[in-house]
Amino acid sequence: MNANQKKLSQRIAEAKLGGGIERIKKQHQKKKLTARERIEILMDEGSFEEMGMMVTHRTTDFGMDKQLFFGDGVITGYGTINNRLVYVFAQDFTVFGGSLSETHAEKICKIMDHALKVGAPVIGLNDSGGARIQEGVRSLGGYADIFYRNVQASGVIPQISAIMGPCAGGAVYSPAMTDFTLMIEETSYMFVTGPNVVKTVTNEEVSSEDLGGASTHSTKSGVTHLTSTNDVQGLLDIKKLLSYLPQNNQEKAPDLPYKLDTEIRNELENIMPIDANKSYDIRLVIQGICDNASFFEIHKNYAENIVVGFARLAGKSIGIVANQPMSLAGVLDVNSSKKAARFVRFCDAFNIPLLVLEDVPGFLPGTDQEWRGIIIHGAKLLYAFSEATVPRITVITRKAYGGAYDVMNSKHIGADMNFAWPTAEIAVMGAKGAAEIIFRKEIMAAKDPELKWKEKEVEYAEKFAHPYRAVRRGFIDEVILPKNTRRKLIKAFAMLENKKVDGPKRKHGNIPL
Ligand code: HXC
Repeated sequence: MNANQKKLSQRIAEAKLGGGIERIKKQHQKKKLTARERIEILMDEGSFEEMGMMVTHRTTDFGMDKQLFFGDGVITGYGTINNRLVYVFAQDFTVFGGSLSETHAEKICKIMDHALKVGAPVIGLNDSGGARIQEGVRSLGGYADIFYRNVQASGVIPQISAIMGPCAGGAVYSPAMTDFTLMIEETSYMFVTGPNVVKTVTNEEVSSEDLGGASTHSTKSGVTHLTSTNDVQGLLDIKKLLSYLPQNNQEKAPDLPYKLDTEIRNELENIMPIDANKSYDIRLVIQGICDNASFFEIHKNYAENIVVGFARLAGKSIGIVANQPMSLAGVLDVNSSKKAARFVRFCDAFNIPLLVLEDVPGFLPGTDQEWRGIIIHGAKLLYAFSEATVPRITVITRKAYGGAYDVMNSKHIGADMNFAWPTAEIAVMGAKGAAEIIFRKEIMAAKDPELKWKEKEVEYAEKFAHPYRAVRRGFIDEVILPKNTRRKLIKAFAMLENKKVDGPKRKHGNIPL
Protein backbone atom coordinates (compact mmCIF):
# COMPACT_ATOMS: atom_id res chain seq x y z
CA MET A 1 0.00 0.00 0.00
CA ASN A 2 1.57 3.33 -1.04
CA ALA A 3 1.39 6.52 1.05
CA ASN A 4 -1.66 7.85 -0.76
CA GLN A 5 -3.59 4.62 -0.45
CA LYS A 6 -2.73 4.53 3.27
CA LYS A 7 -4.00 8.08 3.70
CA LEU A 8 -7.19 7.23 1.84
CA SER A 9 -7.96 4.17 3.93
CA GLN A 10 -7.24 6.18 7.06
CA ARG A 11 -9.67 8.88 5.92
CA ILE A 12 -12.34 6.33 5.08
CA ALA A 13 -11.91 4.76 8.51
CA GLU A 14 -12.12 8.21 10.11
CA ALA A 15 -15.22 9.05 8.12
CA LYS A 16 -16.97 5.96 9.43
CA LEU A 17 -16.38 6.92 13.06
CA GLY A 18 -19.56 7.86 14.88
CA GLY A 19 -19.98 11.29 16.51
CA GLY A 20 -21.15 10.11 19.96
CA ILE A 21 -21.86 12.67 22.62
CA GLU A 22 -18.82 11.64 24.69
CA ARG A 23 -16.61 12.29 21.69
CA ILE A 24 -18.15 15.71 21.14
CA LYS A 25 -17.62 16.55 24.79
CA LYS A 26 -13.96 15.61 24.55
CA GLN A 27 -13.57 17.68 21.41
CA HIS A 28 -15.19 20.61 23.16
CA GLN A 29 -12.10 20.90 25.30
CA LYS A 30 -9.93 21.28 22.23
CA LYS A 31 -9.68 24.75 20.77
CA LYS A 32 -9.12 23.58 17.20
CA LEU A 33 -10.50 20.50 15.50
CA THR A 34 -9.55 18.82 12.25
CA ALA A 35 -11.69 19.42 9.18
CA ARG A 36 -13.29 16.00 9.52
CA GLU A 37 -14.03 16.42 13.22
CA ARG A 38 -15.71 19.73 12.41
CA ILE A 39 -18.01 18.10 9.86
CA GLU A 40 -18.78 15.31 12.26
CA ILE A 41 -19.98 17.74 14.93
CA LEU A 42 -21.85 19.97 12.52
CA MET A 43 -23.92 17.32 10.77
CA ASP A 44 -26.50 14.85 12.07
CA GLU A 45 -24.74 11.67 13.05
CA GLY A 46 -23.98 9.45 10.09
CA SER A 47 -25.66 11.77 7.60
CA PHE A 48 -22.58 13.16 5.84
CA GLU A 49 -21.83 11.93 2.34
CA GLU A 50 -18.50 13.04 0.91
CA MET A 51 -18.11 14.12 -2.70
CA GLY A 52 -14.79 14.24 -4.54
CA MET A 53 -12.84 12.30 -1.94
CA MET A 54 -10.25 11.13 -4.50
CA VAL A 55 -9.74 14.41 -6.34
CA THR A 56 -6.09 15.49 -6.59
CA HIS A 57 -4.52 18.69 -7.92
CA ARG A 58 -3.08 18.88 -11.41
CA THR A 59 0.03 21.00 -10.76
CA THR A 60 3.42 19.72 -11.86
CA ASP A 61 5.59 22.80 -11.08
CA PHE A 62 7.83 22.91 -8.01
CA GLY A 63 7.75 19.11 -7.62
CA MET A 64 4.03 19.25 -6.85
CA ASP A 65 3.42 16.13 -8.96
CA LYS A 66 5.12 14.19 -6.16
CA GLN A 67 2.85 15.65 -3.49
CA LEU A 68 -0.62 14.40 -4.24
CA PHE A 69 -3.16 14.21 -1.45
CA PHE A 70 -6.63 12.79 -1.96
CA GLY A 71 -9.25 15.49 -1.54
CA ASP A 72 -6.74 18.28 -2.26
CA GLY A 73 -7.16 20.09 1.04
CA VAL A 74 -10.92 20.35 1.25
CA ILE A 75 -13.66 17.96 2.32
CA THR A 76 -16.91 18.60 0.45
CA GLY A 77 -20.29 16.95 0.54
CA TYR A 78 -23.84 16.98 1.85
CA GLY A 79 -25.82 15.71 4.79
CA THR A 80 -28.40 16.93 7.26
CA ILE A 81 -28.54 19.27 10.24
CA ASN A 82 -31.64 18.71 12.36
CA ASN A 83 -32.93 16.54 9.52
CA ARG A 84 -32.66 19.29 6.92
CA LEU A 85 -30.35 19.02 3.91
CA VAL A 86 -27.22 21.20 3.84
CA TYR A 87 -24.07 21.28 1.75
CA VAL A 88 -20.75 21.81 3.46
CA PHE A 89 -17.08 22.29 2.69
CA ALA A 90 -14.32 22.15 5.27
CA GLN A 91 -10.80 23.22 4.37
CA ASP A 92 -8.05 20.96 5.69
CA PHE A 93 -5.10 23.02 6.90
CA THR A 94 -2.90 19.91 7.07
CA VAL A 95 -2.80 19.76 3.26
CA PHE A 96 -0.79 22.67 1.81
CA GLY A 97 -2.15 24.92 4.55
CA GLY A 98 -5.70 24.42 3.25
CA SER A 99 -4.67 26.58 0.29
CA LEU A 100 -7.04 26.87 -2.62
CA SER A 101 -5.99 25.21 -5.87
CA GLU A 102 -7.95 24.98 -9.08
CA THR A 103 -9.30 21.53 -8.13
CA HIS A 104 -9.98 22.56 -4.51
CA ALA A 105 -12.11 25.39 -5.93
CA GLU A 106 -13.85 23.04 -8.37
CA LYS A 107 -14.95 20.85 -5.47
CA ILE A 108 -16.44 23.83 -3.63
CA CYS A 109 -18.14 25.08 -6.79
CA LYS A 110 -19.64 21.66 -7.39
CA ILE A 111 -21.47 21.60 -4.05
CA MET A 112 -22.54 25.23 -4.47
CA ASP A 113 -24.07 24.37 -7.86
CA HIS A 114 -25.89 21.42 -6.30
CA ALA A 115 -27.14 23.54 -3.40
CA LEU A 116 -28.53 26.16 -5.75
CA LYS A 117 -30.29 23.53 -7.89
CA VAL A 118 -31.99 21.80 -4.97
CA GLY A 119 -32.44 24.85 -2.74
CA ALA A 120 -30.43 24.06 0.39
CA PRO A 121 -27.99 26.12 2.51
CA VAL A 122 -24.22 26.07 1.98
CA ILE A 123 -21.89 26.17 4.96
CA GLY A 124 -18.19 26.89 4.48
CA LEU A 125 -15.70 26.00 7.20
CA ASN A 126 -12.70 28.12 6.23
CA ASP A 127 -9.16 27.36 7.37
CA SER A 128 -6.76 28.26 4.61
CA GLY A 129 -3.53 30.03 3.70
CA GLY A 130 -5.32 31.47 0.64
CA ALA A 131 -4.53 30.98 -3.03
CA ARG A 132 -2.24 27.96 -3.66
CA ILE A 133 0.98 29.82 -4.39
CA GLN A 134 2.38 27.09 -6.66
CA GLU A 135 -0.62 27.42 -9.01
CA GLY A 136 -0.64 31.13 -9.77
CA VAL A 137 -3.55 32.41 -11.81
CA ARG A 138 -5.42 29.10 -11.78
CA SER A 139 -6.03 29.38 -8.06
CA LEU A 140 -7.01 33.05 -8.43
CA GLY A 141 -9.51 31.95 -11.08
CA GLY A 142 -10.76 29.32 -8.63
CA TYR A 143 -11.54 32.01 -6.09
CA ALA A 144 -13.39 34.06 -8.68
CA ASP A 145 -15.44 30.99 -9.64
CA ILE A 146 -16.52 30.75 -6.00
CA PHE A 147 -17.23 34.51 -5.71
CA TYR A 148 -19.44 34.35 -8.78
CA ARG A 149 -21.45 31.51 -7.28
CA ASN A 150 -21.73 33.35 -3.94
CA VAL A 151 -23.49 36.13 -5.81
CA GLN A 152 -25.71 33.80 -7.86
CA ALA A 153 -26.80 32.09 -4.64
CA SER A 154 -27.28 35.34 -2.71
CA GLY A 155 -30.90 35.75 -1.66
CA VAL A 156 -31.75 32.29 -2.99
CA ILE A 157 -30.19 29.95 -0.43
CA PRO A 158 -28.68 30.84 2.96
CA GLN A 159 -24.87 30.91 2.89
CA ILE A 160 -22.91 30.75 6.14
CA SER A 161 -19.14 31.07 6.58
CA ALA A 162 -17.23 29.98 9.63
CA ILE A 163 -13.65 31.23 9.89
CA MET A 164 -11.76 28.60 11.86
CA GLY A 165 -8.16 29.52 11.05
CA PRO A 166 -6.48 31.94 8.64
CA CYS A 167 -8.49 33.64 5.92
CA ALA A 168 -6.30 36.13 4.13
CA GLY A 169 -6.01 38.07 0.89
CA GLY A 170 -8.81 37.96 -1.62
CA ALA A 171 -10.05 34.82 0.14
CA VAL A 172 -11.93 37.06 2.56
CA TYR A 173 -14.34 38.13 -0.15
CA SER A 174 -16.24 34.88 -0.33
CA PRO A 175 -17.23 35.00 3.37
CA ALA A 176 -17.94 38.71 2.96
CA MET A 177 -20.53 37.92 0.28
CA THR A 178 -22.23 35.18 2.26
CA ASP A 179 -25.10 35.98 4.62
CA PHE A 180 -23.39 35.31 7.94
CA THR A 181 -19.78 35.10 9.04
CA LEU A 182 -18.78 33.47 12.31
CA MET A 183 -15.24 33.66 13.73
CA ILE A 184 -13.57 31.55 16.41
CA GLU A 185 -11.97 33.64 19.14
CA GLU A 186 -8.15 33.64 19.20
CA THR A 187 -7.67 31.00 16.49
CA SER A 188 -9.04 32.73 13.42
CA TYR A 189 -8.25 35.91 11.56
CA MET A 190 -9.32 37.67 8.40
CA PHE A 191 -7.51 40.45 6.53
CA VAL A 192 -6.90 41.59 2.99
CA THR A 193 -3.22 42.24 3.75
CA GLY A 194 -1.42 40.71 6.71
CA PRO A 195 0.76 42.35 9.38
CA ASN A 196 3.97 42.03 7.30
CA VAL A 197 2.55 43.89 4.32
CA VAL A 198 0.99 46.46 6.64
CA LYS A 199 4.41 47.06 8.21
CA THR A 200 6.10 47.40 4.81
CA VAL A 201 3.53 49.75 3.33
CA THR A 202 2.47 51.88 6.29
CA ASN A 203 5.20 51.21 8.87
CA GLU A 204 2.45 50.27 11.29
CA GLU A 205 3.13 47.35 13.61
CA VAL A 206 0.11 45.24 14.45
CA SER A 207 -0.49 41.63 15.44
CA SER A 208 -2.71 39.29 13.40
CA GLU A 209 -5.20 39.26 16.28
CA ASP A 210 -5.44 43.04 16.47
CA LEU A 211 -5.55 43.45 12.72
CA GLY A 212 -8.16 40.83 11.94
CA GLY A 213 -9.04 38.61 14.90
CA ALA A 214 -12.55 37.76 16.04
CA SER A 215 -12.61 40.55 18.59
CA THR A 216 -11.59 43.20 16.03
CA HIS A 217 -14.13 42.08 13.46
CA SER A 218 -16.97 41.71 15.93
CA THR A 219 -16.51 45.15 17.52
CA LYS A 220 -14.65 47.50 15.17
CA SER A 221 -15.31 46.48 11.58
CA GLY A 222 -18.52 44.47 11.88
CA VAL A 223 -17.12 41.98 9.35
CA THR A 224 -18.17 39.05 11.52
CA HIS A 225 -21.73 38.61 12.73
CA LEU A 226 -20.94 36.05 15.41
CA THR A 227 -17.98 34.92 17.49
CA SER A 228 -17.60 31.66 19.36
CA THR A 229 -15.17 30.56 22.03
CA ASN A 230 -13.97 27.42 20.25
CA ASP A 231 -14.65 25.21 17.24
CA VAL A 232 -17.35 23.09 18.87
CA GLN A 233 -19.23 26.13 20.15
CA GLY A 234 -18.96 27.73 16.70
CA LEU A 235 -20.44 24.65 15.02
CA LEU A 236 -23.29 24.50 17.56
CA ASP A 237 -23.94 28.21 16.93
CA ILE A 238 -24.23 27.54 13.20
CA LYS A 239 -26.80 24.80 13.89
CA LYS A 240 -28.77 27.20 16.07
CA LEU A 241 -28.66 29.95 13.45
CA LEU A 242 -29.90 27.55 10.77
CA SER A 243 -32.90 26.61 12.91
CA TYR A 244 -34.38 30.10 12.35
CA LEU A 245 -33.89 30.03 8.57
CA PRO A 246 -35.78 28.48 5.68
CA GLN A 247 -33.98 26.19 3.24
CA ASN A 248 -34.32 28.73 0.43
CA ASN A 249 -36.19 31.86 -0.65
CA GLN A 250 -39.27 29.90 -1.77
CA GLU A 251 -39.91 28.48 1.68
CA LYS A 252 -40.74 29.74 5.14
CA ALA A 253 -38.64 28.99 8.22
CA PRO A 254 -39.81 25.90 10.09
CA ASP A 255 -42.23 26.44 13.00
CA LEU A 256 -41.77 24.92 16.42
CA PRO A 257 -44.90 23.42 18.02
CA TYR A 258 -46.63 25.97 20.25
CA LYS A 259 -49.87 25.94 22.26
CA LEU A 260 -51.46 29.37 22.74
CA ASP A 261 -52.14 30.57 26.28
CA THR A 262 -53.27 34.00 27.57
CA GLU A 263 -49.92 35.40 26.37
CA ILE A 264 -50.03 38.23 28.91
CA ARG A 265 -46.56 39.20 30.10
CA ASN A 266 -46.84 41.36 33.23
CA GLU A 267 -43.07 41.78 33.48
CA LEU A 268 -43.21 44.11 30.47
CA GLU A 269 -45.04 46.68 32.62
CA ASN A 270 -41.99 47.32 34.80
CA ILE A 271 -39.24 47.94 32.26
CA MET A 272 -39.87 51.53 31.16
CA PRO A 273 -38.29 54.07 33.59
CA ILE A 274 -40.57 56.86 34.85
CA ASP A 275 -38.01 59.44 33.76
CA ALA A 276 -38.09 59.56 29.94
CA ASN A 277 -34.39 60.45 29.88
CA LYS A 278 -33.34 57.29 31.72
CA SER A 279 -32.17 54.30 29.77
CA TYR A 280 -33.31 50.68 29.94
CA ASP A 281 -32.20 47.50 28.21
CA ILE A 282 -34.29 46.82 25.11
CA ARG A 283 -33.24 43.16 25.40
CA LEU A 284 -35.57 42.91 28.42
CA VAL A 285 -38.43 43.98 26.18
CA ILE A 286 -37.38 41.44 23.54
CA GLN A 287 -37.17 38.76 26.21
CA GLY A 288 -40.61 39.71 27.51
CA ILE A 289 -42.20 39.55 24.08
CA CYS A 290 -40.57 36.44 22.59
CA ASP A 291 -40.75 32.74 23.37
CA ASN A 292 -38.55 31.76 26.29
CA ALA A 293 -34.81 32.13 25.64
CA SER A 294 -35.41 32.18 21.89
CA PHE A 295 -33.53 35.39 21.05
CA PHE A 296 -30.43 34.72 18.96
CA GLU A 297 -28.54 37.96 18.60
CA ILE A 298 -26.55 38.87 15.50
CA HIS A 299 -23.72 41.44 15.52
CA LYS A 300 -24.02 41.64 19.32
CA ASN A 301 -20.90 43.71 19.98
CA TYR A 302 -21.02 45.94 16.91
CA ALA A 303 -23.06 49.16 16.74
CA GLU A 304 -24.64 48.35 20.06
CA ASN A 305 -27.11 51.22 19.75
CA ILE A 306 -29.22 48.90 17.62
CA VAL A 307 -30.01 45.29 18.49
CA VAL A 308 -30.82 42.78 15.74
CA GLY A 309 -31.41 39.05 15.79
CA PHE A 310 -33.76 36.15 15.32
CA ALA A 311 -36.34 34.98 17.81
CA ARG A 312 -39.51 32.93 17.98
CA LEU A 313 -42.99 34.18 18.61
CA ALA A 314 -45.48 31.40 19.35
CA GLY A 315 -43.06 29.01 17.67
CA LYS A 316 -42.58 31.08 14.50
CA SER A 317 -39.27 32.56 13.41
CA ILE A 318 -39.11 36.38 13.29
CA GLY A 319 -36.36 38.95 12.79
CA ILE A 320 -36.09 41.75 15.35
CA VAL A 321 -34.64 45.23 14.88
CA ALA A 322 -34.64 47.29 18.08
CA ASN A 323 -33.13 50.61 19.12
CA GLN A 324 -31.08 50.19 22.29
CA PRO A 325 -31.55 53.12 24.72
CA MET A 326 -28.65 51.78 26.80
CA SER A 327 -26.13 52.66 24.09
CA LEU A 328 -25.89 56.24 22.78
CA ALA A 329 -29.53 56.66 23.85
CA GLY A 330 -30.49 54.44 20.90
CA VAL A 331 -29.63 57.00 18.19
CA LEU A 332 -29.24 55.95 14.59
CA ASP A 333 -25.71 56.44 13.25
CA VAL A 334 -23.61 55.17 10.36
CA ASN A 335 -22.80 51.75 11.81
CA SER A 336 -26.20 50.99 13.29
CA SER A 337 -27.92 51.96 10.02
CA LYS A 338 -25.68 49.62 8.02
CA LYS A 339 -26.04 46.80 10.53
CA ALA A 340 -29.83 46.99 10.62
CA ALA A 341 -30.20 47.48 6.85
CA ARG A 342 -28.28 44.30 6.07
CA PHE A 343 -30.33 42.33 8.60
CA VAL A 344 -33.63 43.66 7.23
CA ARG A 345 -32.62 42.70 3.70
CA PHE A 346 -31.67 39.20 4.80
CA CYS A 347 -35.02 38.68 6.52
CA ASP A 348 -36.88 40.04 3.53
CA ALA A 349 -35.01 37.81 1.09
CA PHE A 350 -35.80 34.72 3.17
CA ASN A 351 -39.43 35.35 4.14
CA ILE A 352 -38.78 36.05 7.81
CA PRO A 353 -41.31 38.55 9.25
CA LEU A 354 -39.89 41.66 10.90
CA LEU A 355 -40.64 43.13 14.30
CA VAL A 356 -39.29 46.62 15.04
CA LEU A 357 -39.07 47.97 18.59
CA GLU A 358 -38.60 51.71 18.41
CA ASP A 359 -37.12 54.09 20.94
CA VAL A 360 -34.98 56.50 18.97
CA PRO A 361 -34.18 60.16 19.67
CA GLY A 362 -33.08 60.71 16.06
CA PHE A 363 -29.90 60.55 14.00
CA LEU A 364 -26.58 61.24 15.74
CA PRO A 365 -25.50 64.83 14.97
CA GLY A 366 -21.92 65.97 14.36
CA THR A 367 -19.10 66.31 11.86
CA ASP A 368 -17.89 62.75 12.40
CA GLN A 369 -21.22 61.32 11.28
CA GLU A 370 -21.82 63.80 8.47
CA TRP A 371 -18.32 63.30 7.05
CA ARG A 372 -18.62 59.55 7.27
CA GLY A 373 -21.80 59.79 5.22
CA ILE A 374 -24.70 59.34 7.61
CA ILE A 375 -26.90 60.61 4.78
CA ILE A 376 -26.07 57.71 2.51
CA HIS A 377 -25.90 55.09 5.30
CA GLY A 378 -29.11 56.21 6.99
CA ALA A 379 -30.69 55.97 3.55
CA LYS A 380 -29.70 52.29 3.40
CA LEU A 381 -31.95 51.49 6.33
CA LEU A 382 -34.76 53.61 4.96
CA TYR A 383 -34.42 51.84 1.63
CA ALA A 384 -34.20 48.37 3.19
CA PHE A 385 -37.42 48.80 5.16
CA SER A 386 -39.22 50.47 2.28
CA GLU A 387 -38.50 47.62 -0.13
CA ALA A 388 -39.23 44.80 2.34
CA THR A 389 -42.40 42.86 1.54
CA VAL A 390 -42.44 40.43 4.47
CA PRO A 391 -44.98 41.07 7.28
CA ARG A 392 -43.67 44.12 9.16
CA ILE A 393 -44.83 45.32 12.57
CA THR A 394 -43.54 48.20 14.70
CA VAL A 395 -44.01 48.84 18.41
CA ILE A 396 -42.98 52.33 19.56
CA THR A 397 -42.00 51.91 23.18
CA ARG A 398 -40.92 55.50 23.81
CA LYS A 399 -39.23 58.02 21.51
CA ALA A 400 -39.92 58.24 17.80
CA TYR A 401 -38.36 61.52 16.80
CA GLY A 402 -37.58 63.20 13.53
CA GLY A 403 -36.43 61.32 10.44
CA ALA A 404 -35.83 58.27 12.60
CA TYR A 405 -39.64 58.00 13.07
CA ASP A 406 -39.98 57.61 9.31
CA VAL A 407 -37.03 55.26 8.93
CA MET A 408 -37.86 52.81 11.71
CA ASN A 409 -40.55 50.92 9.83
CA SER A 410 -43.24 53.60 9.92
CA LYS A 411 -46.65 53.05 8.37
CA HIS A 412 -45.68 55.51 5.64
CA ILE A 413 -42.93 53.25 4.28
CA GLY A 414 -45.06 50.14 4.21
CA ALA A 415 -45.26 48.72 7.74
CA ASP A 416 -48.38 46.59 8.12
CA MET A 417 -49.20 47.20 11.77
CA ASN A 418 -47.94 49.97 14.03
CA PHE A 419 -48.49 49.85 17.76
CA ALA A 420 -47.40 52.26 20.49
CA TRP A 421 -47.07 51.94 24.22
CA PRO A 422 -48.75 54.74 26.23
CA THR A 423 -45.21 56.06 26.92
CA ALA A 424 -44.61 56.77 23.21
CA GLU A 425 -43.54 60.27 22.13
CA ILE A 426 -43.90 60.97 18.43
CA ALA A 427 -42.67 64.37 17.25
CA VAL A 428 -40.31 66.20 14.93
CA MET A 429 -37.89 66.67 17.80
CA GLY A 430 -37.62 66.69 21.61
CA ALA A 431 -39.74 69.30 23.42
CA LYS A 432 -36.79 71.32 24.73
CA GLY A 433 -35.14 71.80 21.33
CA ALA A 434 -38.46 72.35 19.61
CA ALA A 435 -39.48 75.07 22.08
CA GLU A 436 -36.15 76.84 21.62
CA ILE A 437 -36.62 77.04 17.86
CA ILE A 438 -40.26 77.90 17.44
CA PHE A 439 -40.64 80.16 20.49
CA ARG A 440 -37.20 81.80 20.32
CA LYS A 441 -38.52 85.39 20.00
CA GLU A 442 -41.04 84.90 22.81
CA ILE A 443 -38.38 83.35 25.08
CA MET A 444 -35.85 86.15 24.36
CA ALA A 445 -38.46 88.83 25.04
CA ALA A 446 -39.52 87.31 28.37
CA LYS A 447 -38.45 88.75 31.73
CA ASP A 448 -37.19 85.34 32.76
CA PRO A 449 -36.17 83.55 29.54
CA GLU A 450 -35.30 80.29 31.37
CA LEU A 451 -38.75 80.10 32.92
CA LYS A 452 -40.42 80.95 29.62
CA TRP A 453 -38.43 78.28 27.85
CA LYS A 454 -39.52 75.71 30.45
CA GLU A 455 -43.16 76.78 30.04
CA LYS A 456 -42.94 76.44 26.27
CA GLU A 457 -41.22 73.07 26.58
CA VAL A 458 -44.10 71.80 28.73
CA GLU A 459 -46.62 73.23 26.25
CA TYR A 460 -44.92 71.46 23.33
CA ALA A 461 -44.56 68.20 25.27
CA GLU A 462 -48.26 68.21 26.19
CA LYS A 463 -49.11 68.56 22.51
CA PHE A 464 -46.70 65.96 21.12
CA ALA A 465 -45.01 63.79 23.77
CA HIS A 466 -47.65 61.08 23.44
CA PRO A 467 -48.92 58.74 20.73
CA TYR A 468 -52.51 60.00 20.40
CA ARG A 469 -52.07 62.47 17.54
CA ALA A 470 -50.53 59.67 15.47
CA VAL A 471 -53.35 57.32 16.47
CA ARG A 472 -55.97 59.84 15.37
CA ARG A 473 -54.32 60.03 11.95
CA GLY A 474 -54.11 56.22 11.68
CA PHE A 475 -50.31 56.28 11.58
CA ILE A 476 -50.48 54.16 14.73
CA ASP A 477 -53.12 51.42 14.70
CA GLU A 478 -53.51 51.06 18.44
CA VAL A 479 -52.02 52.11 21.75
CA ILE A 480 -51.40 48.92 23.69
CA LEU A 481 -50.35 48.14 27.22
CA PRO A 482 -46.87 46.64 27.49
CA LYS A 483 -48.25 43.47 29.08
CA ASN A 484 -50.50 42.86 26.06
CA THR A 485 -47.73 43.34 23.49
CA ARG A 486 -46.92 39.68 22.97
CA ARG A 487 -50.60 38.75 22.57
CA LYS A 488 -51.20 41.56 20.06
CA LEU A 489 -48.10 40.63 18.05
CA ILE A 490 -48.97 36.93 17.87
CA LYS A 491 -52.43 37.82 16.53
CA ALA A 492 -51.13 40.46 14.10
CA PHE A 493 -48.41 38.23 12.65
CA ALA A 494 -50.95 35.41 12.26
CA MET A 495 -53.26 37.83 10.42
CA LEU A 496 -50.36 38.77 8.09
CA GLU A 497 -49.23 35.19 7.48
CA ASN A 498 -50.33 35.11 3.84
CA LYS A 499 -49.23 38.64 2.95
CA LYS A 500 -48.19 38.91 -0.68
CA VAL A 501 -46.87 42.01 -2.43
CA ASP A 502 -45.89 42.20 -6.08
CA GLY A 503 -43.61 45.18 -6.62
CA PRO A 504 -43.16 47.05 -9.88
CA LYS A 505 -41.27 45.21 -12.65
CA ARG A 506 -37.58 46.14 -12.69
CA LYS A 507 -34.17 44.52 -12.99
CA HIS A 508 -33.19 45.57 -9.48
CA GLY A 509 -33.41 48.66 -7.33
CA ASN A 510 -30.45 50.90 -6.68
CA ILE A 511 -29.93 50.84 -2.91
CA PRO A 512 -27.54 53.65 -1.87
CA LEU A 513 -24.46 51.47 -1.30
C1 HXC B 1 0.64 26.90 -0.72
C2 HXC B 1 0.75 27.09 1.55
C3 HXC B 1 0.06 28.31 1.50
C4 HXC B 1 -0.34 28.80 0.23
C5 HXC B 1 0.50 27.87 3.54
N1 HXC B 1 1.00 26.87 2.83
N2 HXC B 1 -0.09 28.78 2.75
N3 HXC B 1 1.03 26.40 0.46
N4 HXC B 1 -0.04 28.06 -0.85
N5 HXC B 1 -1.02 29.93 0.09
C6 HXC B 1 1.69 25.71 3.34
C7 HXC B 1 3.05 26.04 3.92
O1 HXC B 1 4.02 26.07 2.90
C8 HXC B 1 3.26 24.88 4.89
O2 HXC B 1 3.66 23.76 4.14
C9 HXC B 1 1.87 24.60 5.39
O3 HXC B 1 0.97 25.17 4.43
C10 HXC B 1 1.58 25.24 6.72
O4 HXC B 1 1.96 26.61 6.65
P1 HXC B 1 2.85 27.30 7.79
O5 HXC B 1 3.31 28.58 7.24
O6 HXC B 1 3.87 26.34 8.29
O7 HXC B 1 1.74 27.50 8.92
P2 HXC B 1 1.57 28.69 9.93
O8 HXC B 1 2.88 29.04 10.55
O9 HXC B 1 0.44 28.30 10.81
O10 HXC B 1 1.15 29.96 9.04
C11 HXC B 1 -0.09 29.95 8.35
C12 HXC B 1 -0.14 31.15 7.37
C13 HXC B 1 1.09 31.13 6.46
C14 HXC B 1 -0.17 32.44 8.17
C15 HXC B 1 -1.44 31.01 6.61
O11 HXC B 1 1.27 29.83 5.91
C16 HXC B 1 0.99 32.10 5.35
O12 HXC B 1 1.25 33.28 5.54
N6 HXC B 1 0.66 31.59 4.15
C17 HXC B 1 0.61 32.43 2.97
C18 HXC B 1 -0.57 33.31 3.04
C19 HXC B 1 -0.74 34.09 1.76
O13 HXC B 1 -0.02 35.07 1.55
N7 HXC B 1 -1.59 33.56 0.87
C20 HXC B 1 -1.86 34.18 -0.36
C21 HXC B 1 -2.86 35.27 -0.05
S1 HXC B 1 -3.31 36.10 -1.48
P3 HXC B 1 4.66 22.68 4.73
O14 HXC B 1 4.90 21.74 3.58
O15 HXC B 1 5.89 23.43 5.15
O16 HXC B 1 3.95 22.04 5.87
C22 HXC B 1 -4.64 35.30 -1.97
C23 HXC B 1 -5.16 35.82 -3.21
C24 HXC B 1 -6.58 35.39 -3.40
O17 HXC B 1 -5.10 34.41 -1.38
C25 HXC B 1 -7.14 36.29 -4.43
C26 HXC B 1 -8.58 36.03 -4.64
C27 HXC B 1 -9.17 37.21 -5.35
